Amino acid sequence: MSTIRQAAVEMLKDVLENKNFFSEVKTKQSQISSQDSAFANMLILTTFRHLVFIKKVLKKFVKKKLPATAVSGQYALFLGTAEILYLNTPDYAVINSYVEITKHLADKYVAGFVNAVLRNICKQKEELKKEETNEFFPPEFFHILNQDYGKKTIQKIQSAAMLEPKLDITVKSDAAHWAEVLGGKLLPSDTIRLENNGKITELSGYADGAWWVQDFAAALAVKALPDIKNKNVLDMCAAPGGKTAQLINKGAKVTALDISAPRLQKLQENLQRLHFEADVVCADALEYIKTYKGTPYDAVLLDAPCSATGTIRRHPELVHIKRLKDVEKQAELQKEILHETPKILKTGGTLIYCTCSISKLEGEKQIAAFLEANPDFKIVPITSEELCGDNYLAEIITEQGFIRTLPQHLADFGGTDSFFVARLKKEA
Ligand SMILES: C[S@@+](CC[C@H](N)C(=O)[O-])C[C@H]1O[C@@H](n2cnc3c(N)ncnc32)[C@H](O)[C@@H]1O
Repeated sequence: MSTIRQAAVEMLKDVLENKNFFSEVKTKQSQISSQDSAFANMLILTTFRHLVFIKKVLKKFVKKKLPATAVSGQYALFLGTAEILYLNTPDYAVINSYVEITKHLADKYVAGFVNAVLRNICKQKEELKKEETNEFFPPEFFHILNQDYGKKTIQKIQSAAMLEPKLDITVKSDAAHWAEVLGGKLLPSDTIRLENNGKITELSGYADGAWWVQDFAAALAVKALPDIKNKNVLDMCAAPGGKTAQLINKGAKVTALDISAPRLQKLQENLQRLHFEADVVCADALEYIKTYKGTPYDAVLLDAPCSATGTIRRHPELVHIKRLKDVEKQAELQKEILHETPKILKTGGTLIYCTCSISKLEGEKQIAAFLEANPDFKIVPITSEELCGDNYLAEIITEQGFIRTLPQHLADFGGTDSFFVARLKKEA
């Protein structure tokens, strides 16, 4: 157990100091067996979900600023406090493990300090649990949201985003049948929602390629692209291919482009499992557009690289590592790609622009600037009816006809990621 916890200390440090996604950091950790992986996930994700309160607790017990050499001790304290307050690990196990780890990663002096702090937290844990503030967002993340949302909305986002998400899948066909086979709930737009436990690869239909993992909100972008059977569609930032699969499933002839070779490798594996085919191109979207000599596409899907701040339910570390300047940087890149896209889209063609960002800089505001610069493009409003045959999804459609999901939407089913989709038409 203490090997996993030591790996957890190292991973936490890597995420927070190098601003890496936890999922990326985890793939580098060879010490963790697949059996231990579930515990490591739970420990680290719980720590990120409660880190704001954990830091407040530690402030009570750590009065001096720790020297740089004691930094491993600080990460051990984050994880140890999470175990005491949220995972109900026996006190002696928490104290012994993190003291040993700190001896190994720092020195005896820091280990003694970790020992003293964890002992004090154990003594007061019942009172501390009552003081829990359920705050998820540190001030820097609040600052990102504050650009676009009022305090009440941010409060709702925070409460909903802190909850552990379920597992959503998209099926090729016969969603009601698969919902029954897998024991899942059928969401209004035919996504199936499963309890997030067990191995995905062992579920019925996975090996045969009957479905793929895709959040409810992420699946909406392609649903807003009607009548693409036999049409040429460019999926401009395609990997790992969730939306590519949807496009092919709708009968389109798809060119799947992405700048990242390893991510395209993943896309190829996914398409192979699903028995789907696409033209796969590894290129920078900007270069591709500049040198493109073929027939303009009937439709372009731009699922632009973004801050991923809409996925904080699944990636709670993002609230601790993303800053407004990261959002602004991504918005610049999106703008560059988006503003070149008209060159490869035919007149009368449809452009779907989407991001998994909660920031309007990467969504609504990005589209407003694009429309100003490209008056030949018009918004084609998306409706709840076309997404689900009724008005069940009215709460996620904005006045302008964009999709804007927030974590508190779809509350009856357990919430959703935040996502933005705009549908535009290039007119003559
Ligand atoms: C949001 S992800 C795409 C997710 C994908 N559409 C799906 O549904 O599975 C954004 C993708 O943009 C790619 N990307 C980033 N910069 C790019 C560029 N300049 N040209 C092409 N692709 C780029 C990234 O490698 C990443 O795979």
